[in-house]
Amino acid sequence: GRSWTKIGDLDDSAAGRTVLIRGATQAIRPVSKKMAFVVLRQSMSTVQCVLVASADAGVSTQMVRFATALSKESIVDVEGVVSLPKEPLKATTQQYVHAEFVVNINLVEIQVRKIYCINRAIPTLPINLEDAARSEAEFEKAEQAGEKLVRVGQDTRLNYRTIDLRTPANQAIFRIQCQVENKFREFLLSKDFVGIHTPKLISGSSEGGAAVFKLLYNGQPACLAQSPQLYKQMAICGGYERVFEVGPVFRAENSNTHRHLCEFVGLDAEMEIKEHYFEVCDIIDGLFVSIFKHLTENCKKELETINRQYPFEPLQYLEKTLKLTYEEGIQMLKEAGTEIEPMGDLNTESEKKLGRLVKEKYGTDFFILYRYPLGVRPFYTMPCYDNPAYTNSFDVFIRGEEIISGAQRIHTPELLAKRATECGIDVSTISAYIESFSYGAPPHGGFGVGLERVVMLFCALNNIRKTSMFPRDPQRLVP
Ligand code: 4AD
Repeated sequence: GRSWTKIGDLDDSAAGRTVLIRGATQAIRPVSKKMAFVVLRQSMSTVQCVLVASADAGVSTQMVRFATALSKESIVDVEGVVSLPKEPLKATTQQYVHAEFVVNINLVEIQVRKIYCINRAIPTLPINLEDAARSEAEFEKAEQAGEKLVRVGQDTRLNYRTIDLRTPANQAIFRIQCQVENKFREFLLSKDFVGIHTPKLISGSSEGGAAVFKLLYNGQPACLAQSPQLYKQMAICGGYERVFEVGPVFRAENSNTHRHLCEFVGLDAEMEIKEHYFEVCDIIDGLFVSIFKHLTENCKKELETINRQYPFEPLQYLEKTLKLTYEEGIQMLKEAGTEIEPMGDLNTESEKKLGRLVKEKYGTDFFILYRYPLGVRPFYTMPCYDNPAYTNSFDVFIRGEEIISGAQRIHTPELLAKRATECGIDVSTISAYIESFSYGAPPHGGFGVGLERVVMLFCALNNIRKTSMFPRDPQRLVP
């Protein structure tokens, strides 16, 4: 086949070369009957293509007219010669950059020889991409200058997600998401974890509680897995010492919040514990420090791009992750004037407050809170040996919001059945799971991470729908 050039790879050294590029027409600017500019975009990069009617170059005025008549966001192929723009042209390009939303503007241009339209977009798109890419600060500035700009609301964006995804920030967000997922695998593989896949069609609730999507499985009542919890533990019973899974997780919660989805990507891990469940915390510590480092060092362009539309403070974290007990957390809140029921759970507001207090005191946005009261943890959580009113469990927070929960699990069938019953679970629905612990089961623990939450909170975005490509929430099943 022919060789295609990536806009992001173009630089001065390409000057004089003839290239072939496919891209979307981000902007079309007619100058005269004989001249037009077409800005082509691929992902986060753009390049300006110049059409000048000239017999020498084989460019006709019809071709210029054809280019001028293209609709924005059409897919076109351009064949042309890479050139370095003259100074005045550069200036207009820069001006243009500010007027639109180009991030990675290429300082080279393409002198177009041929242009083909591969697929036309309709003349007026349902959302304006430039508006969708503006930061709040830009809107405010424009308003002060008396300009009328239209903000694109979250719902409208999601209704037309395929257009919305083209903004530079959105192009960056899902590249970051991919990096987090990839690092998760890479790190755990390096620690001898084995990637597994557990069923998503299961016979009963995996986390206890009613938040399940019910369905019929060949006529039998069944549901979508709320987590790989029971099966990842059974993999440990099956002789796999360390396992992880990346897969969809379904929650029928009717929570219309900024951080709950009905389907999200679960990053789960489960491992044998030799001496103490802090072995699980140590894995989390190494894993997340490596993810944060990787993003900071290798995803600069993506983070800057997100920052441009949604400004945020870089995440602060310690080389060795801070661990605080739940009681210490409660005490800190108490000293700051927030009373918490000592055996209850933290609500969103107190978690955020605790996040701020921890940051002030310890200088980190990332920490582990451990030893939660028994009553607020799932039935499979191991009670503390010294005080069964508490558990060998933990949550992990970024900027005061939960991204992980984890624990040591109960590995004896008697205690497991007792705890399930106490939590109101009909043990007959999970008998195969409970029985697994009668056949020889090592002490173990693990954790579950919400991928969308990690990206949302690393970048301090205000809504989890921004980090889910096609979010499922209580109101949304399409697109
Ligand atoms: O806290 P959760 O429910 O814990 C479990 O599923 C356990 N099986 C984990 C374990 O191994 N002990 O969910 C784990 C994580 C949360 O910390 C949060 O990041 C994310 O999953 N999460 C959600 N993300 C988006 N939307 C929702 N509705 C979520 N519910 C939980």
